[in-house]
Amino acid sequence: MTDATVEIVVDRLGAGGDGIAEHDRQRLFVPNALPGERLLVRLGPARGEGRSATVVRRLSDAETRIEAACRHFGRCGGCVLQHLLRPAYADWKRTLIVEALARRGIADAPVTETLVVPPGNRRRAVFSAVGRQGGAVLGFAEAQSHAIVDIAECPVIAPPLFRLTAPLRATFSTMLGPGQRGQAIATMTMSGIDLVLEIDRSLDLAARERLAAFAGETDLARLSWRRPGGSAETLAARRTVHVGFDGVPAVFPPGAFVQASLAGEAALIAEVLAGVGAAKTILDLYAGIGTFSLPMARKAKVTAMEGDPEAVKALAASSRGAITVERRDLARDAPDEKLLSGFDAVVFDPPRSGARTVAENLARSSVATAVAVSCNPQTFARDARTLIDGGFRLERIRPIDQFLWSSHVELVALFRRETP
Ligand SMILES: C[S@@+](CC[C@H](N)C(=O)[O-])C[C@H]1O[C@@H](n2cnc3c(N)ncnc32)[C@H](O)[C@@H]1O
Repeated sequence: MTDATVEIVVDRLGAGGDGIAEHDRQRLFVPNALPGERLLVRLGPARGEGRSATVVRRLSDAETRIEAACRHFGRCGGCVLQHLLRPAYADWKRTLIVEALARRGIADAPVTETLVVPPGNRRRAVFSAVGRQGGAVLGFAEAQSHAIVDIAECPVIAPPLFRLTAPLRATFSTMLGPGQRGQAIATMTMSGIDLVLEIDRSLDLAARERLAAFAGETDLARLSWRRPGGSAETLAARRTVHVGFDGVPAVFPPGAFVQASLAGEAALIAEVLAGVGAAKTILDLYAGIGTFSLPMARKAKVTAMEGDPEAVKALAASSRGAITVERRDLARDAPDEKLLSGFDAVVFDPPRSGARTVAENLARSSVATAVAVSCNPQTFARDARTLIDGGFRLERIRPIDQFLWSSHVELVALFRRETP
């Protein structure tokens, strides 16, 4: 009974951006639907705690509905909420955090308004490509699918990244056989675009020459290639590649992690600096290539820990001995409470899985200030619960939306010990 149609009214937005409605004691997840809208929907397969449904006809529009900004909206998996008016959209992102905390018993959390980064600001994009007869398709994956939307526009990414898509598509067309897949990780740096091609094939001399010519024609700062899971080999190093964190220059290894937008990064750095305040000794965990370590080191003695060897090497080079940089697997070998207690403040910015052990050890430590940066409200809320149970007070959370129109949100949270 997957093609039955029913009339529903959407209650609210879910964490993935779908409209949620109750029907026949079942929860329905409806893409491109807003709270208050009356819809005729076709019931689809089971999904999570309910089932999916697709809109057959919208019988009424929400007052908050607006025209989507992109022709690919609805198909492209990158965006889920282009059709919602900005204040309601910003509030939804904030609510994602408030609700995740509430589920952990943290009520009335001091969550400020969301800072929303404007369109055209993404400085880093991961394009997917697949070979076809007659040329490659290049863009982003469709929602819940491996199919790729061949993008003709993208209002999210910065214009220089979009300008790269046509030559990149042409290049992939020469490299990918039908059905063969590849990726391109493009980052705007202070030196120009750093591009890493991920293709599971060897490169003969002709391919290398073609790629070096492509790097020149598109004025890339650097072009590298790697097999999936392999390390990058630089094919064209046309300029030394640098980024800057709050004005402090940093070495940028091929395809390294940086925050998704410059505006988001600036806001994150400002929040972290305000959070650590006048701390004289700071431990920066999951430090990457130094987004927070390098600006913090202007005023404090910083120790940075990070798992990725290339990032560790880059941060050590950027800091020129001013920062103690340690390679460490923080999931398996988190600093214990004794080590943590030697610092005035600890900053941690883990991957989506969060920082469970770091939070547990912080809870047992005597650290006065902890600043959490997170891109996942669920794991953040788990770790916040641990810190609060360990005697920290949650002073402030700043939501920063640098993943425009997606269901992701970034945040910075400040915790202080009740009685240091
Ligand atoms: C969200 S990024 C943050 C990086 C940096 N703070 C920034 O803002 O650019 C998370 C970082 O954690 C590192 N990482 C992931 N898992 C790790 C682990 N088990 N141990 C240490 N570092 C890890 C990644 O290499 C990455 O640099």
